[in-house]
Amino acid sequence: KVEVVTNIADARSTVLSAQAAGETVGLVPTMGALHEGHLRLVDASLAECDRTVVSIFVNPTQFGPGEDEDRYPRTLDRDCSLLAERGCPMVFAPSASAIYRPGHETYVEVGSLAESLEGTIRPGHFRGVATVVLKLFNIIPANRAYFGRKDYQQVLVVQQMVKDFDLAIAVIDCPTVRELDGLAMSSRNAYLTPIERQQAAGLYKSLQLAESLYQAGECDVATLTGHMRLSLAEADITKVDYIAFVAAGTVTPVKKITGPTVVALAARLGTTRLIDNLTIG
Ligand code: PAJ
Repeated sequence: KVEVVTNIADARSTVLSAQAAGETVGLVPTMGALHEGHLRLVDASLAECDRTVVSIFVNPTQFGPGEDEDRYPRTLDRDCSLLAERGCPMVFAPSASAIYRPGHETYVEVGSLAESLEGTIRPGHFRGVATVVLKLFNIIPANRAYFGRKDYQQVLVVQQMVKDFDLAIAVIDCPTVRELDGLAMSSRNAYLTPIERQQAAGLYKSLQLAESLYQAGECDVATLTGHMRLSLAEADITKVDYIAFVAAGTVTPVKKITGPTVVALAARLGTTRLIDNLTIG
């Protein structure tokens, strides 16, 4: 059975006493509606740390006006049974009013990382992410924190914040977990209609196409992007927010692939916005 802690002081003192007893603590921050992608982060933490805490908090400050905060799936009971099966002992599931108390004034200003890709389409998103992650790191002063590469830019934002604010936490990034047809697992996949769900496999197909063309010798990003757009159109994915080729570990666009490169894309299927990325080169 999973212990669900909602109180900030209780969560912190549990973690601090574990560490005082010489244990290492791993934190897996999530917004719940857990799937295998989240659970693989939990597995990694369970394997590497003496104690694992999963936080479940749908963070209002990272959603923009008109985004899906209201319909975001909230499935705490189900999440707890999945975590119990996995052997995870503790969930931190605070209320929004415990995290953002009346009079909350301070936010993390992310800097240039927030000025491209997701940041341009979702202004304020990374400010909200960085703010809540900093709060979670302070409430659960873990030794290690686990993040998924599916949210490539989010990992960079968190790594940059840890460096700039001298936080004593190791950020561990874990591989993207996919459905059988390649679609990256996401809590938002639950919004897709059956037809959109089939189309959604086209996102990863277009990333794989870029990879195979690159392996066949094509290094020109404009050409690769053109092929990806055609492939997305074939899957009826027409509302593409961006296709970006950036040097791995950065959000700096490249024109030619000369080293490790992350191909990142975002598209909307009906009312659902999906992102994915693949490292090539
Ligand atoms: P959420 O979307 O719930 O994701 C929680 C963590 O799971 C993130 O680190 C995300 O990258 C990872 N994840 C999601 N799908 C994955 C997949 N298919 N494979 C591997 N990892 C996956 O990301 C957030 O929540 C929030 O922004 C948060 C960091 C919790 C701050 O509110």
